Amino acid sequence: MEYVTLGRTGLSASVAGLGCGGFSRLGLGTGKSEAEAVALVRQTLDLGVNLLDTASVYGTEAVVGQAIKTVPRDNVVIATKAWIPRREGRSAAERAVASLENSLKQLGTDYVDIFQLHGVSPGAYDQASDVIAPALLREREKGKLRFLGVTEAGSSDPEHAMVERAVEDGVWDVVMIAFHMMHQNARAKVFPRTIANRVGTLLMFAVRNIFSRPERLAAALRELTASGQLPRSLADASDPLGFLVHEGGAATITEAAYRFVRHEPGADVVLFGTGNPDHLETNIAALLAPPLPLADRQILTKLFGHLAGVGLDPPYSMPGLNSA
Ligand SMILES: NC(=O)c1ccc[n+]([C@@H]2O[C@H](COP(=O)([O-])OP(=O)(O)OC[C@H]3O[C@@H](n4cnc5c(N)ncnc54)[C@H](OP(=O)(O)O)[C@@H]3O)[C@@H](O)[C@H]2O)c1
Repeated sequence: MEYVTLGRTGLSASVAGLGCGGFSRLGLGTGKSEAEAVALVRQTLDLGVNLLDTASVYGTEAVVGQAIKTVPRDNVVIATKAWIPRREGRSAAERAVASLENSLKQLGTDYVDIFQLHGVSPGAYDQASDVIAPALLREREKGKLRFLGVTEAGSSDPEHAMVERAVEDGVWDVVMIAFHMMHQNARAKVFPRTIANRVGTLLMFAVRNIFSRPERLAAALRELTASGQLPRSLADASDPLGFLVHEGGAATITEAAYRFVRHEPGADVVLFGTGNPDHLETNIAALLAPPLPLADRQILTKLFGHLAGVGLDPPYSMPGLNSA
């Protein structure tokens, strides 16, 4: 495993981070048992991954808590999240603190390393920074969390408007950002500022549905060609991203997707979500592989560099929570 310093937190985090939400939720979302999910987390830790990203709404905090019982607490970086509806007003602070307490209980730990506000939309940002953050910083003084983070809302904020504010505020030491082969706009809008302000980055959506299910990619390409955002030939191609798979390049599209994100300047930790032990191993291997060949990266940027908001579908719907 390779490790990076997560911005100004100074935490040493593995470049591959286990995402405990998304479509798979460690396998709980695809019919696996809790025991299988615990085994998957332990397998991840055995492979050197030390950053685990969960959330109160994922229903996987207890699994993570179970899995980390066998390792010294300071060997793992635990990130979790509270989802606070925008309409909460002043009671948002109490709700966030209650969510933190509940996460500590579920995780079976005295503190979380990174406590994040979950899927904050641009319209909810003032509530997050003015009402919730001050209350959480008081919890930090009590030792219940080490660093504050914020995650963006994905499909309803494809231009990163919330994070563009958050990275300048000095409150959020870590931000979670959507970035992938067909949604590259964080390169210009976000990474220069996270680098300048030493804000740690967790990258989500490297694969999601669009690069794990060919029918979702085909549907996205049909829409994008119909709206004139991509050349027609891409929607007609039988294997539109097949150019990435070749000797000296990637072996699969998912491998290409993880390698593409991992080597982006400004990317600290790339989250991968899975409930499948074989995918777990190949994903970690992909994240430790060299960058994609320059020619392939140039084609990806030329073809897709102008797109925004593609393939950010939510796994399930909750009012105001657009990506999970
Ligand atoms: N706003 C937010 O805060 C927010 C929103 C979204 C995500 N997140 C975080 O980001 C994490 C990563 O997002 P994600 O879970 O969507 O992860 P992802 O790695 O982008 O995509 C995971 C999907 O791809 C499939 N997959 C993974 N590896 C594969 C492989 N080698 N071959 C074929 N299919 C593969 C998985 O299914 P299998 O189970 O079959 O492998 C799953 O359906 C989440 O778990 C969560 O922690 C946060």
